Amino acid sequence: MNDTRPTSSAALPHGEALLHDPLLNKGTAFTPTERRALGLTGLLPPHVHRLEEQVARVMDNYRSKQTDLERYIHLVSLQDRNETLFYRVVVDHIEEMMPIIYTPTVGQACQQWGHLFRRSRGLYVSWEDRGHVEAVLRNWPQQDVRVIVVTDGERILGLGDQGVGGMGIPVGKLSLYTACAGIDPSRTLPIMLDVGTENEGYLRDPLYLGLRQKRIRGEPYDAFVAEFAEAVQRVFPRALLQFEDFGNQNAFRLLEQWRDRICTFNDDIQGTAAVTLAGLYSALRLTGKTLREQTVLFLGAGEAGIGIGSLVASAMVDEGAAPEEARRRCCFVDSHGLVVKSRAGLAEHKLRFAHDLPPAADFQAALEAVRPTAIVGVSTVPRAFDRRVIETMSRMNERPVIFALSNPTSRSECSAEDAYRWSGGKAIFASGSPFPPCHLDGRTFVPGQGNNSYIFPGVGLGVVACRARLVTDRMFSAAARTLAGLVLPSDLELGRIYPSLTRIREVSAHIGAAVAEVAFRDGLAGVARPPDLLSMVQASMWQPVYREYA
Ligand code: NAI
Repeated sequence: MNDTRPTSSAALPHGEALLHDPLLNKGTAFTPTERRALGLTGLLPPHVHRLEEQVARVMDNYRSKQTDLERYIHLVSLQDRNETLFYRVVVDHIEEMMPIIYTPTVGQACQQWGHLFRRSRGLYVSWEDRGHVEAVLRNWPQQDVRVIVVTDGERILGLGDQGVGGMGIPVGKLSLYTACAGIDPSRTLPIMLDVGTENEGYLRDPLYLGLRQKRIRGEPYDAFVAEFAEAVQRVFPRALLQFEDFGNQNAFRLLEQWRDRICTFNDDIQGTAAVTLAGLYSALRLTGKTLREQTVLFLGAGEAGIGIGSLVASAMVDEGAAPEEARRRCCFVDSHGLVVKSRAGLAEHKLRFAHDLPPAADFQAALEAVRPTAIVGVSTVPRAFDRRVIETMSRMNERPVIFALSNPTSRSECSAEDAYRWSGGKAIFASGSPFPPCHLDGRTFVPGQGNNSYIFPGVGLGVVACRARLVTDRMFSAAARTLAGLVLPSDLELGRIYPSLTRIREVSAHIGAAVAEVAFRDGLAGVARPPDLLSMVQASMWQPVYREYA
């Protein structure tokens, strides 16, 4: 998937049309020769800027904005004008910009989608299009799409049903695929499946942009998604289809329905799982223990929790554990207490982790009963890991593993500082939202952030580079092991169990190679195996640099 942008003046649009094509536009960086050859003379101010100078101008403007939402709007309109410059800016300032182009700021953008709307990006496939979905997909101007992110907007971040405003998520996520892993932006496609919304506020808002009806559910919904997934196979046969932010009741079912049939995965379930498993592997580098020796107690049994439990169990099986033993080492507490066999009416996705244990009404009681080595918070319940929980974990374990993954920061099960302070500096901590470094008894601790962006871009890159037919759990386990292996000893010394985000393109390339390795080993790759997978993956990465037009 090398850079597919045309460079010869015969193949390029001319004049205004070129300036309005964000994939080809260079703005003031067009050289005098290019301006003459491409009918641009006079359409731009005379001085020619280099890309670096344009980046400096963008940053000046960016830093003068007062709010994150204004910064988001600034960046998105740059993306609409000049994608090369947009990606150069984002790649060079990835730590600063990731919270703007993705969570948490993108959440505000989703909530105000109808009010902020300027220029459409991606495809909106609505319930009204049923029976003609293939024709809608064929309206997309690029034919060779490699990565699609699709949502139906029902469970956007921690914000619930955003209806058609959920489109901010596929758009932002695909920007991260390009920024973090060099997926060619012209080969990406964000899609919104509009099946209505339960959000009364939007249904009453005159500026709301989606269908004004309650969500379609049940068999008609499944048939619509099936029509869509099958149409994608015909129109974009080489595309990876990533499901994103679907409601719980649909996400698990759709994943099970499609994962063995088409090239697809669900990042909320599998991506979160891999980044957490990577955190556990890093923690093991500090404790010197094996994964099979771990017992993980989760607070929260939703998409994130069950996804993590499933991948951890499958990684334990890869290490030689029996499937039943591996599942027993993952226990869950939900809003009704410990998930146990004797509980009636358990949701389908919790059943495989319902163990033969006595009931426990709350997390503390479950902690005493299960005696875990690691606790993982994915419940959205702030301060659920209180002093007693952390002191109990520290009594049971020399180095207790404490992951408080709920987002945003206000929902975190505990803060980094509380985890370090109450454990006397023994905790191995990671969070979903970033926490600043902590200073305790003369030591500095740098908390790791279990950001899905460490995993999904690299997985997508590997899948696309080797044209994998399916995306498997083994690929996610390999991605997790690779990510943990890239954490430097200097990171671990500070307690940081993930690499710095500034290394994300290097991280994604290595994950891509590891994923491709699994695809070749398991007979899932669609190309001949090259001698060096890392070089193959690196060569396929799109770079945000201008190409010379002649
Ligand atoms: P979800 O809505 O699918 O699941 C939430 C779970 O928490 C449900 O099982 C619910 O029963 C449980 N819960 C709610 N109140 C509870 C209580 N009082 N006690 C015990 N359990 C309770 O949500 P999902 O997707 O699983 O996400 C959960 C959290 O994890 C969110 O805050 C999300 O932002 C975060 N997350 C973090 C990621 C990361 O750090 N990389 C990635 C994905 C999610």
